[in-house]
Amino acid sequence: MLAVEDLSAAYGRIEVLHGVSLKVDPGEIVAIVGANGAGKTTLMKTIAGVHPAGGGRIRLDGEDVTRLPAHKRVGRGLSLVPEGRQVFAPLSVADNLALGAFRSEGDVAADRAAMEALFPILAERRAQTAGGLSGGQQQMLAIARAMMARPRLLLLDEPSMGLAPIVIKDIFRALAERHRSSGLTVLIVEQNVAAALSLADRGYVLETGRLVAEGRSEDLLADPAIQRAYLGG
Ligand SMILES: Nc1ncnc2c1ncn2[C@@H]1O[C@H](COP(=O)(O)OP(=O)(O)O)[C@@H](O)[C@H]1O
Ligand SMILES: [Mg+2]
Repeated sequence: MLAVEDLSAAYGRIEVLHGVSLKVDPGEIVAIVGANGAGKTTLMKTIAGVHPAGGGRIRLDGEDVTRLPAHKRVGRGLSLVPEGRQVFAPLSVADNLALGAFRSEGDVAADRAAMEALFPILAERRAQTAGGLSGGQQQMLAIARAMMARPRLLLLDEPSMGLAPIVIKDIFRALAERHRSSGLTVLIVEQNVAAALSLADRGYVLETGRLVAEGRSEDLLADPAIQRAYLGG
């Protein structure tokens, strides 16, 4: 579904992604884990088209989208939940969800009901402004809003950031449920290595702009070097 080949990206003259290659197959959950500053957000922004690629290729279902504007990638089924749970704070929860569906040709009412079943708090808070939600609830809303567009590939930039472990568990459980029930394909980047690899089928390790390891999640979780570097083992 997604194939990234030898991708580089820079801020001005400073290159921060150096030849990243990865793939995501339909129906997979793939995690890219790495420390703060490794380049995770830059990679997600470059795949989504909100940051330009310096070199390399991004293919979506075989089509080269490397130079395609972000909104056209959304049209091809790519949906990014950016870092820092960006919701429309003055708008209600219901209006945030409606905005997520504004290009959707699907059954918007049914999709909203599905999101409210997945995250029941969004039904309880339907009429409240998004700005009044807790951090965890805003993250749920940001994910639900992205899913209202019926993405074929959901890109998640560090959904656990700043959230309590119990809230992280709730969110990751909902993602796993959606994956099971609708075959949602996900590419997630995370600093929370344990949570991300527990959710994902496969993973990659990103260190200062380079992928240095890849494998099945259970193999990465069992790898002594990864345990030492990322899991306090
Ligand atoms: N807007 C920016 N301008 C200049 N440098 C940036 C900018 N955003 C990120 N960087 C730098 O790029 C590197 C990768 O950052 P980022 O992609 O945000 O990593 P991560 O998401 O893994 O924490 C870091 O060294 C960071 O300081
Ligand atoms: Mg980041």
